[in-house]
Amino acid sequence: MERTIRALVAVEGLDTFEVQRAMPDDPSFQLLGLTDGVDETVRTLQTRDVDVLVVACEGREDDRSLQIIDSANRTAPSVPIVVLSTASPNGFLRRAFEAGAADMGLYPQSKDQLRFMLSKAIARTTRTSDMNGHRGEGKLICVLGPKGGTGKTLTSTNLAVALALANQRVLIIDLDLQFGDVALALGVPPEKTMYDLAISGGSLDQDKLSDYVMQHQTGVDVLLAPARPDQASAITIELLRDVLVIARAHYDFVIADTPPGFTAEVISTIDASDALVMVGTLDSLSLKNTKLGLETLQLMDYDEEKIQLVLNRADTRVGISHHDVVAVLGSQPDIFIPSDREIPRAVNEGVPITLSRPQSYAAAAFHELAALFTGGAEPAAEPVAAAAASQGSGRRSLFRLRRK
Ligand SMILES: Nc1ncnc2c1ncn2[C@@H]1O[C@H](COP(=O)(O)OP(=O)(O)O)[C@@H](O)[C@H]1O
Ligand SMILES: [Mg+2]
Repeated sequence: MERTIRALVAVEGLDTFEVQRAMPDDPSFQLLGLTDGVDETVRTLQTRDVDVLVVACEGREDDRSLQIIDSANRTAPSVPIVVLSTASPNGFLRRAFEAGAADMGLYPQSKDQLRFMLSKAIARTTRTSDMNGHRGEGKLICVLGPKGGTGKTLTSTNLAVALALANQRVLIIDLDLQFGDVALALGVPPEKTMYDLAISGGSLDQDKLSDYVMQHQTGVDVLLAPARPDQASAITIELLRDVLVIARAHYDFVIADTPPGFTAEVISTIDASDALVMVGTLDSLSLKNTKLGLETLQLMDYDEEKIQLVLNRADTRVGISHHDVVAVLGSQPDIFIPSDREIPRAVNEGVPITLSRPQSYAAAAFHELAALFTGGAEPAAEPVAAAAASQGSGRRSLFRLRRK
């Protein structure tokens, strides 16, 4: 049974009754009260036992909700704050995280989704303490990209294969819970997925986990995303946390492929990760989003030294120079992946380019990326190495970004 959630809801600029009606109404959700403004919210947090604070607002940058988040965070730092807003412009999103929000979602949304989001936020606050001391040897690498189609799945699957070819034990987890396509990219049949694991009941251990992973011909184990989008909500943060702890103890590398954006699963995986691979492409929209992604990581206090920046389709002629890239991102990409007509073909055939065209520059780039994690000296194909070398050296800083 799900445990009861005691929620306090601060309403700012929205209709209180509508907000109340939008809250989950299952018996395991307890609405402690609705507050108006900073003082009332802070007072209630001091006097009641609150599991989660929901701030329902319009999402404007001059919104009083930001003060509520900030004060609530100072008053009760252990209470996660979930922000629901009718709009979420980037400036607001960033300031809300800055003020201490744990997660953000659109208002209104379905009661099920909302309940799911709240349990995840609560689970996340207990995560850090649970995970400490349980760390296995394996490294968790989270592959991120703030936009769809930038090459995250391409990168995570080929990185997994490159690491396996370097004799590492690898598990890849598809965290694109609704539209995951790791199964397609690797050509593994979706016989068992994370959903089957989630509904199997009982406690999780390595034996059980191995019952639910699919094996790729290279030896890479694959924990697939649910087959249907509606099954995604069965994957709780608690389950994910257990999977990560167990997988780390058993594999050398655990690679998480992610959907675009900072979903709750993605945030808790980032928190638990040893390294991040940020994938962007060479167009101005993608670069802008990549920069926003890097800024969000900075707000989450993520150690910039643990971020590898991958520039995909790095040779595309779109009028953006490498100089522009560095100027926008504030740092040097670590790995350049060229455009390659074989890549879409490889994806369609379900054979990663590291296997279908092992001599290609793209394959070499993925071996270079893998070598950054194994410490191995992989011989990079000439142009890739040359492209990287010609970018000059200099101490890289992802976070030396220009801020408005
Ligand atoms: N370097 C590249 N060269 C050619 N096609 C690419 C390249 N990178 C990505 N693609 C194409 O773009 C599609 C989207 O890539 P994918 O890795 O699925 O993106 P994401 O996971 O970020 O949404 C792939 O199916 C592939 O066909
Ligand atoms: Mg993908």
